[in-house]
Amino acid sequence: MSTLLTSHFYERRSAFMAQCEKDSIFIIAANTLLTRSNDTEYPFRQNSDFWYLTGFGEPDAYLILSNRELNDINDGKKQLTENIANHSAYIFVQPSDALAEIWHGRRLGVDRASKALMVDQAFSIDDLDEHLPDLLDGHKHLYYCFDTSPAIEATIQLALKECRQAPKQSKTAPNSLHNAQELLHAMRLIKSEEELAIMQKAADISSEAHARAMSFSAAGKFEYQLEAELHHEFAMSGARYPAYGTIVGSGVNACILHYTENKDELKDGDLVLIDAGCELQGYAADITRTFPVNGKFSDVQRSLYQLVLDSQYAAINALRPDATISEAMKICVRVLVEGLVELGILKGAVEANIEAETWRSYFMHGLGHWLGLDVHDVGIYKENGLDVPLRPGMVMTVEPGLYFSENADVDARYRGIGIRIEDNIVITDTGNRVLTDKVPKEIAGIEKLMSS
Ligand code: GLY
Ligand code: MN
Ligand code: MN
Repeated sequence: MSTLLTSHFYERRSAFMAQCEKDSIFIIAANTLLTRSNDTEYPFRQNSDFWYLTGFGEPDAYLILSNRELNDINDGKKQLTENIANHSAYIFVQPSDALAEIWHGRRLGVDRASKALMVDQAFSIDDLDEHLPDLLDGHKHLYYCFDTSPAIEATIQLALKECRQAPKQSKTAPNSLHNAQELLHAMRLIKSEEELAIMQKAADISSEAHARAMSFSAAGKFEYQLEAELHHEFAMSGARYPAYGTIVGSGVNACILHYTENKDELKDGDLVLIDAGCELQGYAADITRTFPVNGKFSDVQRSLYQLVLDSQYAAINALRPDATISEAMKICVRVLVEGLVELGILKGAVEANIEAETWRSYFMHGLGHWLGLDVHDVGIYKENGLDVPLRPGMVMTVEPGLYFSENADVDARYRGIGIRIEDNIVITDTGNRVLTDKVPKEIAGIEKLMSS
């Protein structure tokens, strides 16, 4: 399976620094461990931006990049070589510590860090506050990710202050601060071939897991037992963690959009909605399937399910370069409203319902979101008030749904039904490719899988 090489991360750092102003320094911090209960921590998850630039999975580290001087050197040497470095890089990591490593696990350590991560120099994280003012010295621009955490903010502000207040103005502090997220998240929005290969694998593993949960489903099983089937499949296929809290909502629980209690018993005749995806090398899959607990759709379930599916196909069909998510949403909503009017759930004319947004009572979320290192991935949706046009390499979810809670103002036979169908697509040069096509979503396909 494709794995990102250290050189990929190096190239991303180069591409990032090439977009910063001349004489810039960039600071980014790793995540830190979070306490779950006394003496135990949550499983560590690296900060996605830090991971994107380093591929380094340890907590308590800082990466510092500078394009000062090298700009000038590069200008002079450009004719000599294409590949000359456009930046220098420094990493601060947890130092090797025999006792800490016996208790908490191995560390890369300072001595090995610069070679392993392809950076110029490595230091102990314990020396960060001492070195940071010197590293800032002489730069005009500072880039960092605003509002990440008060501790990071404090570290940077302290270093800036020390740089500004150095005796006899012996240091020059950057005066202009930039939010690095703008450049970084624009890069993350467009996935490379290597990233797409990993995301395809994450999608395949997650699709298999959904198929496994469908096969396992039966009245009397519990929602958390379906969750266990999914997570087992993730792990046995090489993806240890889910990318987000797995949702298994049977019956009316499917109407709670981010239901993660997963505690109820499955009942004959109900639908069950599963929204789950694994995380692989940091990348998320995000799939939803809705299917009958007993493997056979009732007539009412069938009519609503087919409507959601038709609306999803219509939306996917509209997602291509230069189109926008809003345009696809409009197409999706039209299909849903036409169907809801035909079923008598919405009263009056299709146009009037679209205009008055009556459908929002039953489809209360958006069409989808960017997908990548974060399940709700970074990247802008609007620029200057306009929807961003889709570009090849963007990965997103398409996830229409219909939700009729116990109290919904609809005929009783529709109440307690929640349906969502969610796939992941990548925009290609000519349209899009569905990454999550290895688990059925057609009624016949689901019923066939569940009967075998
Ligand atoms: N799994 C959360 C979402 O679909 O947005
Ligand atoms: Mn989603
Ligand atoms: Mn989802």
